[in-house]
Amino acid sequence: MMKLGIQTEMYMINKMKITHIAGILASACLLVSCGQQEAEIFDLELSKQQWNRPGKQWTEAELRLLATGETLYRRNCSVCHARDGQGDIQLGAPALYNSPIVTGPGSSLIQLILEGKKGTAMPAFAGALSDQQVAEITTYVRNAWGNDVLDSVMREEVKQLR
Ligand code: HEC
Repeated sequence: MMKLGIQTEMYMINKMKITHIAGILASACLLVSCGQQEAEIFDLELSKQQWNRPGKQWTEAELRLLATGETLYRRNCSVCHARDGQGDIQLGAPALYNSPIVTGPGSSLIQLILEGKKGTAMPAFAGALSDQQVAEITTYVRNAWGNDVLDSVMREEVKQLR
C-alpha cells in the first residue's frame, strides 16, 4: 500500500515535470519566433549579463543601443561580414572582429558606414540608415565578439558626420 502510494506520487511528480518542461519549451519557441520578427524583446537583466564587463557597467540607454544594434547588424551587415564578425573571404569582406578600423576612432568607422568604400562591395548606408541606426550598429560592432572598445556612439555624433 505504502509502496504504491509513493509510486503514484512519483508518477505525479514526473507528470508535473513533463508539463513544466513542455511549458518552458513552448515559451522558448515563442521567444525565438518573436525574436526573428520586428519587435525584439529587450530584457534588461539578460542584456547586463551579456554586455557588462569588469569595470564597465552600461546604462540602460546604452544597453538598448547594443540590443538594437545587434538586430540591425544581422539585417544589414552579417550577409557579408558574418554573424560572428569573422567576415567572408570569398566576398572579400574582412573580419570586423579585431579590425583596427572597427576598434579605432569612432568617427572614421561612422564615416565608412555612411559612405561605404567606392570600388569595393562595401555599400554606403547613408541613404538606408538613420543617424540613430548608424549609432546603434557602430556601438554594437565596437563591442561585439570581444572587440570590447567599451564606449557608445550617440546619434548626434553621426549627425555631425553625415
Ligand atoms: C555586400 C557586402 C557588404 C555588406 C552588406 C557590408 N559590407 Fe562592410 N565591407 C565589405 C567589403 C567587401 C569590405 C572590404 C572593402 C575593401 O576592400 O577595403 C568591407 C569593409 C568594411 C569595413 C572595414 C574593415 C577593415 O578592417 O578593413 C567595415 C568596418 C565594414 N565593412 C563595416 C560594415 C558594416 C557595419 C556593415 C553594415 C552596416 C557592412 N560593412 C555591410 C562588404 C560588405
